[in-house]
Amino acid sequence: MLTSKVIVVIFALIGNLARCSCWDRATNARYFDGAVFVRHKSALKTDIIRKMKIVSEIKCSQACLSENSCVAHTYCRTPSSPDKGTCYLHQNGIPEDEARVLDKKDECIYQQYIGFIEATCTRQCNNKGKCFYDYSNKQYSCRCIPSHFGTYCEKVQAISFRFTNLGKQGNCGPTSTSGYANTTLHGKVTLDKGIQLWTVPFSAFYTLTVAGASGGKTTMHSGGHGTVVIGILQLTKGTQLRILIGQRGVKGTSVAGGGGGGGTFVEDDNYNLLAAAGGGGGGGGQITSKDGDDGQASKNGSVFGGFQGLGGTVRGTEINSVGAGGGFHGNGTCCLFSTATNACVFHKCQQGGLSFLNGGFGGTGNGDGGFGGGGATSDHFGGGGGGYSGGGVHATSLGSGSQAGGGGSFFIGNVKSEGGRNNGDGYLLLELKSSSN
Ligand SMILES: *[C@@H]1O[C@H](CO)[C@@H](O)[C@H](O)[C@H]1NC(C)=O
Ligand SMILES: *[C@@H]1O[C@H](CO)[C@@H](O)[C@H](O)[C@H]1NC(C)=O
Ligand SMILES: *[C@@H]1O[C@H](CO)[C@@H](O)[C@H](O)[C@H]1NC(C)=O
Repeated sequence: MLTSKVIVVIFALIGNLARCSCWDRATNARYFDGAVFVRHKSALKTDIIRKMKIVSEIKCSQACLSENSCVAHTYCRTPSSPDKGTCYLHQNGIPEDEARVLDKKDECIYQQYIGFIEATCTRQCNNKGKCFYDYSNKQYSCRCIPSHFGTYCEKVQAISFRFTNLGKQGNCGPTSTSGYANTTLHGKVTLDKGIQLWTVPFSAFYTLTVAGASGGKTTMHSGGHGTVVIGILQLTKGTQLRILIGQRGVKGTSVAGGGGGGGTFVEDDNYNLLAAAGGGGGGGGQITSKDGDDGQASKNGSVFGGFQGLGGTVRGTEINSVGAGGGFHGNGTCCLFSTATNACVFHKCQQGGLSFLNGGFGGTGNGDGGFGGGGATSDHFGGGGGGYSGGGVHATSLGSGSQAGGGGSFFIGNVKSEGGRNNGDGYLLLELKSSSN
């Protein structure tokens, strides 16, 4: 209990004072939320952190509230000049029942704050939250900017971002982001030759679901599925990601193969590849040929596919100009058929899907490969899928047993699952769990 000589002033008085100065405080300022006791004609001569000339008691009180270690002040008017005074800041104050340790001084006043709540505007409100005085709850609170919450805006709300091909088909990427209207990506994505640029809004661990596109189907055979890689990655606010969403290979017919599916790629602004998910191979157009092979969970493409980021290759026993899938840094190639050896020699061609580093355009030919390095078709042969390493093609005589391979995959972080199958265009889902950061 406070002694009878102690006057308890409720918070309202000081609240008004602190309210006005909320925005002006130093970063280490703190706010008073409690009671204060005052003793007139008294001074504490010890326990002084700092002493300063000051014009009024209010200023002295503000000085104490702005100093982390201050719990009390003594303010003494200069008797000869009423506009001047000396302010002493105290670190420990006095126990409630020991007012007698104060010295009697007519020109001084001693004031001690009880029950500080440390609630600094800029120090305790995280993530650009602002401190304000919440009158209904009679306390200082942080007003958080959207997606942050918690007493000190230290948490981030669950939020997800789904990147799509924005409705675009074929071997080139999207040219408009209007498909993101009303999504969490609205106004946040810009395009660079079909590659989507997006800046990470919060530093946190994100779950990435990366899906490659499927290969084009034909009347005879289905295209291979795009592969799905799920993993966790720590991303830093402000990092600009370059995202290529793989597009489906074009459909074939009863005589023409399907285009290779594009891989989906995610790269950071230091040109580090973060993730890639392989696209599926195009379906064969002959009854004796095969379904396109699925995108691969491992780094290598399938069916004479590339490895270590290279494009796929075409091998076989029949003259053809089908394109293999592009990889991260190597283009998909074609077959230059040698009748002498009855085998293919690799060569550059427009049917091969381009590597991600060369723009990721699908190959062009009878039927185009999907954006993301899908290989183009030729006759009844389906194109290879794009991916970390491109899918290849096995082109056999009369199409018997011929098949287009899927692209390989890559993930730089902690992989949770791989080998999922996606049917259709690729996508990237970035999910942020509700978390502290
Ligand atoms: C976005 O939402 C508004 C209002 O709900 C709606 O009128 C508009 O058609 C939506 N736009 C798209 C692209 O979905
Ligand atoms: C990938 O391909 C390379 C080259 O053919 C080979 O050495 C390696 O073993 C393959 N890796 C896997 C996982 O199959
Ligand atoms: C890949 O293709 C692009 C476009 O045709 C070309 O500029 C680049 O040199 C090719 N890269 C390789 C390694 O052949």
